[in-house]
Amino acid sequence: MIILDKVDKIIDKHRYEKSELIGILQGIQEEMNYLPPDAIRHTAKRLNLPLSQVYGIATFYKRFSLTPRGRYTITVCCGTACHVRGAPKILEELKRQLCISPGETTSDLNFSLETVNCVGACALGPVILVNQEYYGQMNCVKVGKLLERYTVTKRVKAEAVAI
Ligand code: FES
Repeated sequence: MIILDKVDKIIDKHRYEKSELIGILQGIQEEMNYLPPDAIRHTAKRLNLPLSQVYGIATFYKRFSLTPRGRYTITVCCGTACHVRGAPKILEELKRQLCISPGETTSDLNFSLETVNCVGACALGPVILVNQEYYGQMNCVKVGKLLERYTVTKRVKAEAVAI
Protein backbone atom coordinates (compact mmCIF):
# COMPACT_ATOMS: atom_id res chain seq x y z
CA MET A 1 0.00 0.00 0.00
CA ILE A 2 1.45 3.33 -1.13
CA ILE A 3 0.41 5.24 1.99
CA LEU A 4 2.09 2.75 4.31
CA ASP A 5 5.24 2.70 2.16
CA LYS A 6 5.48 6.45 2.61
CA VAL A 7 4.94 6.08 6.36
CA ASP A 8 7.69 3.45 6.51
CA LYS A 9 10.10 5.80 4.75
CA ILE A 10 9.32 8.56 7.26
CA ILE A 11 9.73 6.22 10.24
CA ASP A 12 12.96 4.88 8.77
CA LYS A 13 14.26 8.45 8.42
CA HIS A 14 13.70 8.81 12.16
CA ARG A 15 15.49 5.50 12.83
CA TYR A 16 12.40 3.86 14.36
CA GLU A 17 12.96 5.95 17.51
CA LYS A 18 9.93 6.14 19.80
CA SER A 19 11.21 9.49 21.04
CA GLU A 20 10.86 10.79 17.45
CA LEU A 21 7.09 10.23 17.41
CA ILE A 22 6.22 13.93 17.03
CA GLY A 23 8.72 14.32 14.18
CA ILE A 24 7.32 11.20 12.49
CA LEU A 25 3.74 12.48 12.76
CA GLN A 26 4.93 15.86 11.45
CA GLY A 27 6.49 14.09 8.46
CA ILE A 28 3.27 12.20 7.74
CA GLN A 29 1.22 15.38 8.09
CA GLU A 30 3.50 17.20 5.62
CA GLU A 31 3.41 14.31 3.15
CA MET A 32 -0.35 13.70 3.26
CA ASN A 33 -1.73 16.99 4.58
CA TYR A 34 -3.34 15.09 7.48
CA LEU A 35 -2.90 11.97 9.59
CA PRO A 36 -4.90 9.14 8.01
CA PRO A 37 -6.11 6.46 10.50
CA ASP A 38 -4.14 3.76 8.63
CA ALA A 39 -0.96 5.82 8.98
CA ILE A 40 -1.52 6.28 12.73
CA ARG A 41 -2.16 2.57 13.26
CA HIS A 42 0.89 1.67 11.17
CA THR A 43 3.09 4.10 13.11
CA ALA A 44 1.96 2.64 16.44
CA LYS A 45 2.64 -0.89 15.21
CA ARG A 46 6.08 -0.09 13.76
CA LEU A 47 7.21 1.79 16.87
CA ASN A 48 5.62 -0.79 19.15
CA LEU A 49 3.66 1.92 20.95
CA PRO A 50 0.08 1.77 22.25
CA LEU A 51 -2.34 3.16 19.65
CA SER A 52 -3.81 5.39 22.37
CA GLN A 53 -0.42 7.05 22.88
CA VAL A 54 -0.05 7.90 19.19
CA TYR A 55 -3.61 9.21 19.02
CA GLY A 56 -2.93 11.15 22.21
CA ILE A 57 -0.09 13.05 20.53
CA ALA A 58 -1.99 13.40 17.25
CA THR A 59 -4.94 15.05 18.98
CA PHE A 60 -2.95 17.14 21.48
CA TYR A 61 -1.12 19.36 18.99
CA LYS A 62 -3.14 21.77 16.87
CA ARG A 63 -0.71 21.37 13.97
CA PHE A 64 -1.94 17.81 13.41
CA SER A 65 -5.22 17.08 11.68
CA LEU A 66 -7.15 13.82 11.67
CA THR A 67 -9.28 14.95 8.75
CA PRO A 68 -8.10 15.73 5.21
CA ARG A 69 -6.76 19.25 4.82
CA GLY A 70 -6.73 21.54 1.84
CA ARG A 71 -3.68 21.99 -0.36
CA TYR A 72 -3.62 25.60 0.85
CA THR A 73 -4.33 26.59 4.44
CA ILE A 74 -5.54 30.16 4.70
CA THR A 75 -4.92 31.55 8.17
CA VAL A 76 -6.58 34.82 9.12
CA CYS A 77 -4.91 36.76 11.89
CA CYS A 78 -7.58 37.89 14.36
CA GLY A 79 -5.20 39.49 16.87
CA THR A 80 -6.03 42.95 18.20
CA ALA A 81 -4.05 44.97 15.65
CA CYS A 82 -5.53 43.06 12.72
CA HIS A 83 -8.99 43.06 14.27
CA VAL A 84 -9.16 46.85 14.47
CA ARG A 85 -7.92 47.11 10.87
CA GLY A 86 -10.64 44.90 9.44
CA ALA A 87 -9.79 41.23 10.03
CA PRO A 88 -13.45 40.35 10.78
CA LYS A 89 -14.49 41.59 7.30
CA ILE A 90 -11.68 39.61 5.68
CA LEU A 91 -12.75 36.48 7.53
CA GLU A 92 -16.39 36.98 6.54
CA GLU A 93 -15.37 37.42 2.89
CA LEU A 94 -13.31 34.23 2.96
CA LYS A 95 -16.17 32.33 4.60
CA ARG A 96 -18.55 33.66 1.96
CA GLN A 97 -16.32 32.86 -1.02
CA LEU A 98 -15.14 29.46 0.18
CA CYS A 99 -18.46 28.44 1.78
CA ILE A 100 -16.63 27.11 4.83
CA SER A 101 -15.99 28.22 8.41
CA PRO A 102 -12.70 28.24 10.32
CA GLY A 103 -11.56 24.67 10.95
CA GLU A 104 -13.16 23.42 7.73
CA THR A 105 -11.88 22.41 4.29
CA THR A 106 -13.45 22.97 0.89
CA SER A 107 -14.93 19.88 -0.76
CA ASP A 108 -12.32 20.01 -3.57
CA LEU A 109 -9.59 19.89 -0.88
CA ASN A 110 -8.01 23.06 -2.23
CA PHE A 111 -8.47 25.34 0.81
CA SER A 112 -8.66 25.00 4.58
CA LEU A 113 -9.54 28.03 6.71
CA GLU A 114 -8.03 28.81 10.11
CA THR A 115 -7.77 31.76 12.48
CA VAL A 116 -4.91 32.69 14.76
CA ASN A 117 -4.16 35.40 17.32
CA CYS A 118 -1.22 37.46 16.03
CA VAL A 119 1.37 36.18 13.61
CA GLY A 120 3.90 38.82 14.63
CA ALA A 121 3.46 41.18 11.68
CA CYS A 122 1.06 43.67 13.28
CA ALA A 123 2.35 46.64 11.25
CA LEU A 124 1.16 44.91 8.08
CA GLY A 125 -2.35 44.22 9.39
CA PRO A 126 -4.73 42.93 8.53
CA VAL A 127 -2.62 39.91 7.70
CA ILE A 128 -3.49 36.51 6.29
CA LEU A 129 -1.23 33.58 5.49
CA VAL A 130 -1.56 31.09 2.68
CA ASN A 131 0.46 28.16 3.96
CA GLN A 132 3.67 29.98 5.05
CA GLU A 133 3.25 32.98 2.72
CA TYR A 134 2.32 36.31 4.38
CA TYR A 135 -0.13 38.78 2.77
CA GLY A 136 -0.47 42.14 4.51
CA GLN A 137 -2.84 45.10 4.28
CA MET A 138 -5.57 42.79 3.08
CA ASN A 139 -9.01 43.89 2.04
CA CYS A 140 -12.01 42.12 0.53
CA VAL A 141 -10.99 42.89 -3.07
CA LYS A 142 -7.52 41.44 -2.51
CA VAL A 143 -9.09 38.34 -0.96
CA GLY A 144 -10.91 37.56 -4.21
CA LYS A 145 -7.75 38.02 -6.28
CA LEU A 146 -5.73 35.88 -3.91
CA LEU A 147 -8.23 33.02 -4.01
CA GLU A 148 -8.27 33.21 -7.79
CA ARG A 149 -4.49 33.09 -7.90
CA TYR A 150 -4.29 29.94 -5.78
CA THR A 151 -7.16 28.34 -7.66
CA VAL A 152 -5.53 29.17 -11.01
CA THR A 153 -2.25 27.68 -9.79
CA LYS A 154 -4.09 24.44 -9.13
CA ARG A 155 -5.86 24.55 -12.51
CA VAL A 156 -2.59 25.17 -14.40
CA LYS A 157 -0.96 22.21 -12.61
CA ALA A 158 -3.94 19.97 -13.46
CA GLU A 159 -3.76 21.01 -17.13
CA ALA A 160 -0.01 20.38 -17.19
CA VAL A 161 -0.60 16.85 -15.90
CA ALA A 162 -3.30 16.26 -18.51
CA ILE A 163 -0.98 17.18 -21.42
S1 FES B 1 -2.41 41.11 15.38
FE1 FES B 1 -2.25 40.36 13.37
S2 FES B 1 -0.11 40.23 13.07
FE2 FES B 1 -0.30 40.87 15.11
